[in-house]
Formats: sequence, C-alpha cells, structure tokens
Amino acid sequence: MILGVNVDHVATVRQARGGIEPDPVDAAMEAIEGGADGITVHLREDRRHIQDRDLEVLREKVSIELNLEMAATREMIGIALRVRPDMVTLVPEKRKELTTEGGLDLKKSEQKIKRAIERIQAEGIPVSLFINPSIRDVVVSKRLGAQMVEIHTGRYADAKGRRQDAEFERVRRAIEKGLEIGLLVNAGHGLNYSNVQRIASISGLRGLYIGHSIISRSIFVGIKEAVREMKELIKA
Ligand code: PXP
Repeated sequence: MILGVNVDHVATVRQARGGIEPDPVDAAMEAIEGGADGITVHLREDRRHIQDRDLEVLREKVSIELNLEMAATREMIGIALRVRPDMVTLVPEKRKELTTEGGLDLKKSEQKIKRAIERIQAEGIPVSLFINPSIRDVVVSKRLGAQMVEIHTGRYADAKGRRQDAEFERVRRAIEKGLEIGLLVNAGHGLNYSNVQRIASISGLRGLYIGHSIISRSIFVGIKEAVREMKELIKA
C-alpha cells in the first residue's frame, strides 16, 4: 500500500508570515526519508498555501510519485502539462472552503472533467478523480476515462459509532466496485493515526493520501518519524 504525503500545510505555516520558512520542499525530502512513497500538493487557484515555484522545485527534486491535486481549469491543466507531475488528481475547489469538502460533482461537471482527463492523459500523465464513496460516481469515473479514483474518506473520518460503520461500508463498497471495473483505487481525506487502519485493511487498495494528521504529528516528533509511524500502521 503506498502512502502519499500531502505537504500543503507546511506551506500554510509559511504563508502565515509570507516568508520562506518552513519550506514544503524540505518537508517533502524529510517525508521521503521517513518512507513516503509519494508527495502530494494541491495548487489551489487562490494560492493559499502551495505556490507555483514550490511545484516546480518539487518536480526537480522529487523522484518518487509527485501527485498534483488541482481543479479542472484551463490554467491548472496548462500548469500540469508544463510541470509534468507523475499523476494529477482532479478535485472540486471552492474559494471559501477550509479544505476540500466533498468529491467531484460528476453530474454537473461531466463534460469539463472528461475533457480535462483527455488532455492530461493524452500527454502520458495518469488522472485520478477524487470522488464521494458512491457506486454511481465510481462507474461514471471509469466511463469518463480516468485511470484512477481516490475515494473520499472524510465522512467516515468524521462519523462516530454506528454511523462510522455505515460510512465505512460505503467506502468499502465503492473501492470494491472500482477494482471490479478495472480502476486503480486510492482513498484519502481526514485519515489519522486512529482511523486509518480500518481503511488500510481493505484489500486491493492501491494507496492512501494523507496530509493534516501527519503534519500535525510532525510538530511533536518531526516529519520523518510521523511518516514512519503512519507507514507502520498501514503496512499490509
Ligand atoms: N486527498 C485529497 C484529494 C485532498 O484534497 C486532501 C486534502 O488536501 C487529502 C487527500 C488529504 O486530506 P487530509 O489533509 O485530511 O489528510
């Protein structure tokens, strides 16, 4: 099971003072030393954390999987084709949200997403769609031509008790369906050191994409150790 570490929040701290530290590129290097299999950044349209230059430097320095999360806009597609990350994850984006709140609305944006997938994959960069744990959205993702999906685990992560069991089932069924129809299936959002193992135990899952909990833990133990601990929890 691969672990993609999202370093956006290192840039969040840097942007709080508008200076040069802490550097998300240094954080990525530490994460790699701790055993990360991939590095993820979300270049948001409002550039609230990761900046264009971070992405360029990461592309030069990261030799493991570099995953660019982005909205399916003309500007972002241009950047992806120029910088050439190892994969692109298309996500919905709202300016006022604190973090990505849900999966893509495939009903509303079907044509836009289809065109984005075609343009990016035509250049040899695989595209993953960040979707809600819904069978329908998994099937539509395949129809739109995506090679991969990332199932949103945010509701599972936020729920408690029986409601969490129900959310877990939704995630599990969506993953199962994705595998059945030949997609590569990942999961992520809201996963932490207490709730990750249940998701990691779902067989066939390709990888997990985790940011906030790892960067939070790294304040106390350092990034290398925080990544190492997460890797230990999710190893198959
Ligand atoms: N996957 C996607 C598509 C995301 O947008 C995010 C948040 O940037 C994550 C995973 C990681 O979520 P978290 O920071 O809650 O671990």
